[in-house]
Amino acid sequence: MDSISTAILLLLLVLTCLFLTLSSRGKGRLPPGPRPLPILGNLLQLNSQNIVTSLTKLSKEYGSVYTVHLGTRQVVVLSGYQTVKEALVDKGEEFSGRGSYPAIFNFTKGNGIAFSNGERWKVLRKFSIQTLRNFGMGKRSIEEQILDESSFLLAELQKTAGEPFDPKFVLGRSVCNIICSVIFGSRFDYNDERLLAIIHLLNDNFQILSSPWGKWYNLFPSLLDWVPGPHRRLSQNFRRLKDLIAQSVRDHQASLDPNSPRDFIDCFLTKIAQEKQDPLSHFHIDTLLMTTYNLLFGGTQTLGTTLRYAFLVLMKYPEVQARVQEEIDRVVGRARLPAVRDRVAMPYTDAVIHEVQRFADVLPMSLPHRVTQDTTFRGFLIPKGTDIITLLNTVHKDPTQFLNPQEFNPERFLDANQSLKTSPAFMPFSAGRRQCLGESLARMELFLYLTNILQSFSLQPLGAPEDIDLTPCFSGLGNLPPPFQLCMRAR
Ligand code: HEM
Repeated sequence: MDSISTAILLLLLVLTCLFLTLSSRGKGRLPPGPRPLPILGNLLQLNSQNIVTSLTKLSKEYGSVYTVHLGTRQVVVLSGYQTVKEALVDKGEEFSGRGSYPAIFNFTKGNGIAFSNGERWKVLRKFSIQTLRNFGMGKRSIEEQILDESSFLLAELQKTAGEPFDPKFVLGRSVCNIICSVIFGSRFDYNDERLLAIIHLLNDNFQILSSPWGKWYNLFPSLLDWVPGPHRRLSQNFRRLKDLIAQSVRDHQASLDPNSPRDFIDCFLTKIAQEKQDPLSHFHIDTLLMTTYNLLFGGTQTLGTTLRYAFLVLMKYPEVQARVQEEIDRVVGRARLPAVRDRVAMPYTDAVIHEVQRFADVLPMSLPHRVTQDTTFRGFLIPKGTDIITLLNTVHKDPTQFLNPQEFNPERFLDANQSLKTSPAFMPFSAGRRQCLGESLARMELFLYLTNILQSFSLQPLGAPEDIDLTPCFSGLGNLPPPFQLCMRAR
């Protein structure tokens, strides 16, 4: 390259950087943060192995509201209970947008609930909550389904006959079946190829999205499309999942009776037919496929991961496990299965589940948010469309809310009378307008699964309890517990 071309290239580069800097100024008064490099932003300050820890460390330096540059994108990071609550709850409408997440958006194209915005998000969320309630979410009818499913799980666990096994797959199949029965109308046999494929595809994508590859893909999607690596499987997995759901939708269409909907898909198909003449309707096949995908992903990965963390913690602290079993024996006995109505009489077990969720931080950064209008926040002006990261891990580890937050201690969720004492800083399901819509189902599942399992079995580690390492093996979209094996001893 001759010297004139080099000079022109350099000039263009300087002008681009100047343009990017100036165009981002003036639109608002963003909070300060680490100084960015052109194009790369603050990437060199963000450890690719653990973006959650890097962002948390930066909040210690720059405060509970700071700006970070992810490549050329400016993102405001919020940490600590007070700040996150002020944003998500006190300014709920302003912070209710969904931020950019290319690794999933490239697949959903804003068609489901979780990655859509505006009117489409509101309509699909309202419809989904209503339909899930009609199929028993948060009610007795879903409790019966969970109990049925957990008896299949107990039978599988029985088959392990006290031998070591990895619980990931068997737990995943079971929790996936609950949401499958609401969406598809019936549970799958544990060896059904469709169920096995769904679990494999969801697990693989959650793992990739929680790994450094997920981070890089979200930052430079077009570039990473050309680079070999496990992230290339993301779109293949998404496509296979979409095909599986589409096949089921076709089967439903062939036997649909609008007067007698069997499941979520039937209700959605009926709504599509009702709004067929409306060109602005948000109900069509693509929104059905992606909403179904959101429910499957949301209802499987988070629960399976929380249960695995619960197993690890109960093995590491056998005295906690013994106290939960003592409460089950005292309140429920052995003659019948634990039910949701027992929960009020089982504050210790409830406190343990709360503490597992606080401690495990299964979605440590929640999902990205976005401000839907120019928003004044803590003396700054955040321009409409700016993405927001809420560090839920810093809420759960906020020392102003939880004493010795790094310790696992279920007692923190009990008052002086040993009754359950919740905390507004308990936010595993996030808070505000985007709060997880499956919360009541998830809470029911966690309680019933853990009590049903611990009524029949004791969880035993293969080594010494104190050697169990609770550090996540991946920390990104999710905090994934390290893989482990255990033995289930019949009680
Ligand atoms: C332990 C279990 C679960 C945890 C920890 C969890 C956590 C979360 C979190 C942190 C969010 C992001 C909220 C935000 O953007 O502020 C979320 C969103 C969501 N969750 Fe869950 N979730 C769980 C179970 C479920 C279940 C069982 C379902 C399905 C019935 C579900 C469906 C969804 C959906 C559809 C969204 C997107 C909501 C929206 O964008 O409006 N989740 N969840």
